[in-house]
Amino acid sequence: MTDQNPIEALKALEVLALTAIADAPDADALEDVRVSFLGRKEGRISLILRDLGSMSPEERPAVGQEANRVKGVVCVALEARDLDFAGPGAAGGLDLTLPARGVWQGGLHPITQAVDEIWGIFRDLGFTRARGPEADTEWYNFEALNTPLDHPAADEQDTLYLVDSVLLRSHTSPVQMRTMEKYQPPIRILAPGWVYRRDTYDATHTPAFMQIEGLVIDEGITFVDFKATLAEFARRYWGPGTQTRFRPSFFPFTEPSAEVDVKRVITRPDGSTEETDWLEIMGAGMVDPAVLENAGYDSERYTGFAFGMGPARIAKLKHGVDDLRTFFENDVRFLAQFGS
Ligand code: DAH
Repeated sequence: MTDQNPIEALKALEVLALTAIADAPDADALEDVRVSFLGRKEGRISLILRDLGSMSPEERPAVGQEANRVKGVVCVALEARDLDFAGPGAAGGLDLTLPARGVWQGGLHPITQAVDEIWGIFRDLGFTRARGPEADTEWYNFEALNTPLDHPAADEQDTLYLVDSVLLRSHTSPVQMRTMEKYQPPIRILAPGWVYRRDTYDATHTPAFMQIEGLVIDEGITFVDFKATLAEFARRYWGPGTQTRFRPSFFPFTEPSAEVDVKRVITRPDGSTEETDWLEIMGAGMVDPAVLENAGYDSERYTGFAFGMGPARIAKLKHGVDDLRTFFENDVRFLAQFGS
């Protein structure tokens, strides 16, 4: 064997070993076969593995790989033959007729993917990440945001109260005030997080859902900055042809307020394109001076804009999912389609 190339030698050993395994009449004979090929001291395959160190660096990887392959094949054959001698019922749970186990690869949840993607765009536009507590007070959730407690949004019908004036935040907007309290302008933050409402669980509502809040405050921020930033976001998220529309709306904490809609251009597999309908993606507006004053900012000096969007809705539009609940039911057959 000395003159033989080690790869050829290994292939020959593989045939010899498999034949010897098949021919072994009983468990003792099988053990002898194991020792003669894989025994640590004198095993014929082990010896080649041990010789690796003295081989040239060019030769070593290929021989090492082949030796390990042959070793693996022989080990499996030994184990399988061993079962023949163990008798019925003593197979130790190894059933070679079972299909192989799949290899599972985890992936990010589609809503997490949407949050990450949206965050990436705003990060590139110069925003930083902010967060606030999910259990918050009436002050941060409503009053600081210029929303009186007799406003319908503050009603127990809509909001999940914990104790007294503490509740599960019904939107991410309280992060606005929590950030303004801590920092002075310029402020440019994005705050994704969970929010909670007394909503019936149906195709378009879940009582817990993700929101992404944005807030920009500085001297000289105008409606132009507001529109341009959100239009730029929409183009980066959905593609350069995306149009944006600002519809007048009302939120207590913005003045003027808007609902932002997008119209996307979809390219079909045959290359032709189609414009979608207008789709609402967020509420937004110029920060109300009363909110700035609540934060202790001089509303004559500073202005800003804010927005709040639902990434689940956005992911739903992007992937053509028609029922929001499927995002939360943890059916792996659904989630695996978004493998990253
Ligand atoms: N907080 C609002 C909601 O949950 C969304 C929203 C609207 C956030 C306008 C804002 C905004 O920051 O400016 O419905």
